[in-house]
Amino acid sequence: MASPALIDPFGRHVSYLRVSVTDRCDFRCTYCMAEDMTFLPKKDLLTLEEMDRLCSEFIGQGVKKIRLTGGEPLVRKGIMTLVESLSRHLRSGALEELTLTTNGSQLARHAHDLARFGVKRINVSLDTLDPDKFRKITRWGDFNRVMEGIRAAQQAGMAVKLNAVALKGFNEDEIPEMIRWAHGQGMDLTLIETMPMGDIDGDRTDQYLPISVLRARLMEQFTLADIPYKTGGPARYVEVKETGGRLGFITPLTHNFCESCNRVRLTCTGTLYMCLGQDDAADLRAPLRASESNELLRAAILEAIGRKPLGHDFVIDRRHNKPAVARHMSLTGG
Ligand code: 5AD
Ligand code: SF4
Repeated sequence: MASPALIDPFGRHVSYLRVSVTDRCDFRCTYCMAEDMTFLPKKDLLTLEEMDRLCSEFIGQGVKKIRLTGGEPLVRKGIMTLVESLSRHLRSGALEELTLTTNGSQLARHAHDLARFGVKRINVSLDTLDPDKFRKITRWGDFNRVMEGIRAAQQAGMAVKLNAVALKGFNEDEIPEMIRWAHGQGMDLTLIETMPMGDIDGDRTDQYLPISVLRARLMEQFTLADIPYKTGGPARYVEVKETGGRLGFITPLTHNFCESCNRVRLTCTGTLYMCLGQDDAADLRAPLRASESNELLRAAILEAIGRKPLGHDFVIDRRHNKPAVARHMSLTGG
């Protein structure tokens, strides 16, 4: 019998589940959140056991890669019990990769256990190497703690990839230095365009820096060679000849990254978003709670995948200064 697979109406195989385990965060990055945020009431959250049951059902349906995100996943109380329980699917071979995206603030104390439970690679968000600018962009973050977290992750044997959001007038001049630093420390770096998600305090058109512009500028001082390297996510990679390291680009706006989309996103309340840039969603919490068996859940997942849209409709310009989707990135974790 062929192994089960989730295939969407456009023939794309959904093999990658991103799970936002909390919408809360101990930072308030200016492009991501308003300073004064209202979070989901704790009573609406799935328990970690329910999250495990949901993830396991997706794995049973052929999902091979799970990424825990947030908000900040490591601020969810007890989160390591979920990592530990999901690691059984790594041992059985049903799951190929368990990973997470973190702001690094809590990484120093969890790095060892993450590695022990089979996490081999993690993404750490880092938009600047300047501690004062770091404080400005994250509002609440402590640069040195994040550096400690990154070091601890590397010492625990995990590969660290840095994610930097490209922000006009903020870090654009610093990107070459970040490339040299990351590659010098044996880390990949990926540059991300800002996406119009959720209300923030300010105007996103002021922050938007097309990656195409940045890439052209980088080519004045670096030799960038396209390489076929793939991590299962939307980044396209080049090798920087001068450093020997890998540089990724995530370009949801200037380049359509939807055609090969293999991902769906689950929130901490059990809502499944079939696309980062669309509002359509499916509630999996009700079918999950309705019975002990997974039949209703399975049917709800199949029905949802059958509604996965072709792509997003993000635009950032002066005429569209409302977010394309009202929810914040911190609900679905990017
Ligand atoms: N646009 C682009 N990237 C964003 N992130 C958070 N909000 C946005 C946004 N509106 C980034 C974070 C993190 C990743 C999960 O998404 O910095 O690296
Ligand atoms: Fe928190 Fe990440 Fe949003 Fe920053 S970008 S506020 S670290 S969820």
